[in-house]
Amino acid sequence: MAKGTVFFCQGCGYESSKWMGQCPGCKEWNTFVEEAAPKKRAGSKSSLTREKAMPVTLKEIELKEEERISTGIGELDRVLGGGIVAGSLMLVGGDPGIGKSTLLLQVCRNLAEEHHNVMYISGEESLKQIKLRAQRIGEFNDSLTLLCETNLEEIQDVVRAKKPEVVIIDSIQTMFHENISAAPGSVSQVRESTNTLMLIAKTLGIAIFIVGHVTKEGVVAGPRVLEHMVDTVLYFEGDRHASYRILRGVKNRFGSTNEIGVFEMQGNGLREVTNPSEFMLNGKPIGASGSVVTCSLEGTRPILVEIQALVSNTSFQIPRRTTVGIDFNRVNLLLAVLEKRAGMQLGGCDAYVNLTGGMRLSEPSIDLAVVAAIISSYRNRVVDEHTIVFGEVGLTGEVRGVAQAEMRIKEAAKMGFNRCIIPKSNYDAIRANGKPGIELVGVAGMIDLVDAL
Ligand code: TYD
Ligand code: MG
Repeated sequence: MAKGTVFFCQGCGYESSKWMGQCPGCKEWNTFVEEAAPKKRAGSKSSLTREKAMPVTLKEIELKEEERISTGIGELDRVLGGGIVAGSLMLVGGDPGIGKSTLLLQVCRNLAEEHHNVMYISGEESLKQIKLRAQRIGEFNDSLTLLCETNLEEIQDVVRAKKPEVVIIDSIQTMFHENISAAPGSVSQVRESTNTLMLIAKTLGIAIFIVGHVTKEGVVAGPRVLEHMVDTVLYFEGDRHASYRILRGVKNRFGSTNEIGVFEMQGNGLREVTNPSEFMLNGKPIGASGSVVTCSLEGTRPILVEIQALVSNTSFQIPRRTTVGIDFNRVNLLLAVLEKRAGMQLGGCDAYVNLTGGMRLSEPSIDLAVVAAIISSYRNRVVDEHTIVFGEVGLTGEVRGVAQAEMRIKEAAKMGFNRCIIPKSNYDAIRANGKPGIELVGVAGMIDLVDAL
């Protein structure tokens, strides 16, 4: 080993003086990469830290009503929990080219329009490139300033002098700190850079958006500690080749997580999609077997999505199973339940299950619709196109109740569906509460479901 180098786990940031095959921290294999050792921190550089540490009593802490700045983009505000909180550090992750820079530049424009002082700091693009992008998005006023810089010491000085309310750092992988000799984008650089930005945010009360690229495994490049250090983590996902984008909150110290925002990429920037159900059901085939609509709850919002299944006789020794947008193991489990509890011979069949619209769902309430789609394809019988199906399926083939059934039914009715196949327990509860304006069918098990379809 060369002198003055250490090894970092690229997954969790575990530090070791020698290379290891398996990380003792996160148990991942082959994640260690050699980096120059971080220098001991120079004492004089702590100019940003508070004066003197002093404990206080709870009574002495003044609570201000959290002021939130609206981004002017409703979908983003909701994911953030109502707007930007001063002094918060927000990480926006996503694949390259998904639209992170575009979204944040649009945020800048809206904030500048409301006369908030914003600064966009780019380490990836030249000022000219940013201007070209800005021209596609629209008119900007002078409350927005731009800076091309990757040295955090310099950025720190500029930010302290100009005191903007909101700062965008695009992206954290290009930033470097002089104290660390490792290359930009390495674990120690990303960690130290985020630390510096956190100090700026907390001491000066500036809200900072950090853009982070994701690796092919789908996590923000650099250590997991990055996610622990920031207040809010948002992921921008979706198929790069399709026009819709989904912004998902996975961590939020100032609001609820699992809210999503839906956007569409257009020629002049991102546009909000306020009725995602309509968007997701766009292009649904009519009169085709294996297609079933379900309703999933994303945060506070019900969204209708179409699930497609294709079951065909296999020509392989081991049948093929593929899923898109749904957990692979969950589908295997449901196939096994169907085989055992509904007597369907699926062992000799390939099965492909697909969630259309580029969404990814993990809510168990879509189980029943997956099962319905598989049955429909297996028997080659079309499920009525005005029917939606939701419910959780257990290992004994029982159909279990789901939360917020009424909200899902309402959304279905709003979108023109007139029949809902739902768990028996939800059915009984809704019946006890009065008459719903839509035909409901309660199912308790697999046999009921086959009959209802
Ligand atoms: P970008 O914001 O640069 O992605 P990221 O910062 O996440 O890497 O997104 C760029 C893509 O979006 C690029 O493929 C061009 C496209 N785009 C539009 O379709 N319309 C627009 O108005 C803009 C600005 C970009
Ligand atoms: Mg970018």
